[in-house]
Amino acid sequence: MTGQADAVAGVVVLGAGTIGRALLGQIAARRGGLHASLGVRLDVVAVATSRLWTPPGRAPLEDDDLRALAHGGIAAVEHIPHDDGQVRVYLEGLPRRAVVVDVTASDATADLLLAALAAGHHVVLANKKPLSADAATFAALMRYRAEGRMVRYEATVGAGLPVIRTLQDLVETGDEVLAIDAALSGTLGYICTALEDGTPFSRAVRAAQSAGYTEPDPRDDLSGRDVARKAVILARTCGFRADLADIALAGLGDLGAPGATVAAFLAGLEEQDGEMAARVGAAESVDQVLRYVARVTPEGTTAGLQAVPLHHPLAGLRGTANLVAITSARYRDVPLVVSGPGAGAAVTAAGVFADILAAVAARRWWT
Ligand SMILES: NC(=O)c1ccc[n+]([C@@H]2O[C@H](COP(=O)([O-])OP(=O)(O)OC[C@H]3O[C@@H](n4cnc5c(N)ncnc54)[C@H](OP(=O)(O)O)[C@@H]3O)[C@@H](O)[C@H]2O)c1
Repeated sequence: MTGQADAVAGVVVLGAGTIGRALLGQIAARRGGLHASLGVRLDVVAVATSRLWTPPGRAPLEDDDLRALAHGGIAAVEHIPHDDGQVRVYLEGLPRRAVVVDVTASDATADLLLAALAAGHHVVLANKKPLSADAATFAALMRYRAEGRMVRYEATVGAGLPVIRTLQDLVETGDEVLAIDAALSGTLGYICTALEDGTPFSRAVRAAQSAGYTEPDPRDDLSGRDVARKAVILARTCGFRADLADIALAGLGDLGAPGATVAAFLAGLEEQDGEMAARVGAAESVDQVLRYVARVTPEGTTAGLQAVPLHHPLAGLRGTANLVAITSARYRDVPLVVSGPGAGAAVTAAGVFADILAAVAARRWWT
């Protein structure tokens, strides 16, 4: 490719929900500046949801279209139906290499992403599911890195925080990761802080729900399953074997009878207040605080409520912030700590955007 051709980078966005829309808004706001400062023109050539997409093969979306998408979703611009097969054929036939961005919450995009990589495209994900499902899929995706493709997934853990690339830098420069201790759920962090402040468990869960921090069913957060997915991604990034099914996972509190309605679960929460207050008190009596911690080591991965000593970086965490403390051969006495907001549309989309730019930069350099 010539330098002139390299200055144009195609972007295909799968997903136009909270994060996809925020991303498209950021691209519209920033791409003029990027063209001026980096000499790169980002062309968003297609945006797809699960059933609809912008008509393929047309001219790249204008800034006005991107802004309309950002505000109103796919319905706000010209769109037509598709099936998954069509998106795949489209990616395989694109005349120019592109960055394919998975900002869906789908567990069915892995094959499409593999096809995109096989067709020569780079891939960026905020979607945890393809990376935390079976280990063979993770390995198959990563194998393309050896063929010059970028597979970037910063926003899958800690939203826009530089967690994945920090870990990759450690591993790729020959450091040995010994342990990762991490608070990876804003919702669970919020509840832990409320417990520490003396709020009964039942009120803490309801407050998290009213503040919009929980999924519609709070048990989806309390189960720790989302944390477990992130922990699997951290472990695999370190080169450790990890599978969701093998994680020693304990939810925050008792999730009650399977199949109970959300209302029934919430109505029974008071029954747990006494036991939870006793756990908080027991931790306090030995200068510890309760945190929902994912621990990743070469030997295995755990996630659950844990008492941590006051001097540990996790103890100082308040509210919804995330924190990842990496202990390695080089960072043995004092862990390397990355901390800050671990969710939210703007920071997550910015993490995805930065990955897109890194993929574009790599492509310009090497091809
Ligand atoms: N929200 C955060 O703070 C945050 C932080 C870090 C990571 N993430 C991750 O970012 C991803 C997106 O989150 P979100 O909050 O934007 O989700 P969302 O609002 O539910 O949006 C998901 C989008 O993906 C589309 N979609 C589903 N299956 C698809 C497919 N097979 N092909 C193309 N599009 C498909 C959906 O289309 P339909 O409407 O047609 O179903 C929808 O437009 C998730 O994986 C989430 O875990 C979110």
